[in-house]
Amino acid sequence: MIRRMTMSLCAVSAVLLLAVAPVAAKSKAAKEDPAKRGEYLVMVGGCNDCHTPFKMTPIGPLPDMERMLSGHPEGQPDPSGTLGKIDLTTTGPDLTAWKFPFGINYTRNLTPDKTGLGEWTEAQFIKTLRTGRHQGEGRALLPPMPWYNYGGMPDDDLKAIWAYLRTIKPIKNTVPDPKVPPPVLDQFLKNNAAIVDIVINHKAPPAPPAAAPAPAATPAPAKK
Ligand code: HEC
Repeated sequence: MIRRMTMSLCAVSAVLLLAVAPVAAKSKAAKEDPAKRGEYLVMVGGCNDCHTPFKMTPIGPLPDMERMLSGHPEGQPDPSGTLGKIDLTTTGPDLTAWKFPFGINYTRNLTPDKTGLGEWTEAQFIKTLRTGRHQGEGRALLPPMPWYNYGGMPDDDLKAIWAYLRTIKPIKNTVPDPKVPPPVLDQFLKNNAAIVDIVINHKAPPAPPAAAPAPAATPAPAKK
């Protein structure tokens, strides 16, 4: 009986081993080759879900990998919807443009074409994700780019993402600048600096503004 159980346990573990072997092999390759690890990080980091235009398929909307990571398609009309009172954003036909109450923003081209990250350096790329600023020192990056989620990653991981992004197909596509007024961009610079402190450097968030003092009690009318 015990022997039979041991044998079937062995069979189960053999099946399990077979099942995990390709994954283990993949992660080993990823350890050896930064670009392979970068490919994995881009997949789990969800970069395609925003930076690759979506298309409708028989099994629902999916990123169009022919245009992988090429950002908001040049010349596409802006989202046509009007924001309702309760809406924070509305998007266009392929999830690459967002209309917010403060303006419209577009996902950018991450391919190595010169309309994308072609002329960027690795240092600029890393600094962008660590600071929430274009090339690490330009204008503030706007929502919904979750740079702060990636900005706390170790250098090696960010370098691996960069290494992978250098290997993908270059796609010529000039993404428009955000249609957001300069004072709003300035405010986002301050917001992003605060986000760096809170999310990446784990500092305590600023105290909420003090509650307005309660209105003084109205004195009771004097008795006559
Ligand atoms: C939820 C959507 C979303 C996800 C997920 C996302 N991005 Fe972005 N990303 C954006 C948007 C939108 C912008 C444009 C921001 C702007 O122009 O202010 C952007 C901008 C950028 C920029 C700045 C480019 C420039 O020209 O300044 C880089 C670099 C970038 N993303 C890399 C990545 C990487 C790498 C990943 C995955 C690890 C990723 N993004 C995931 C939405 C996203």
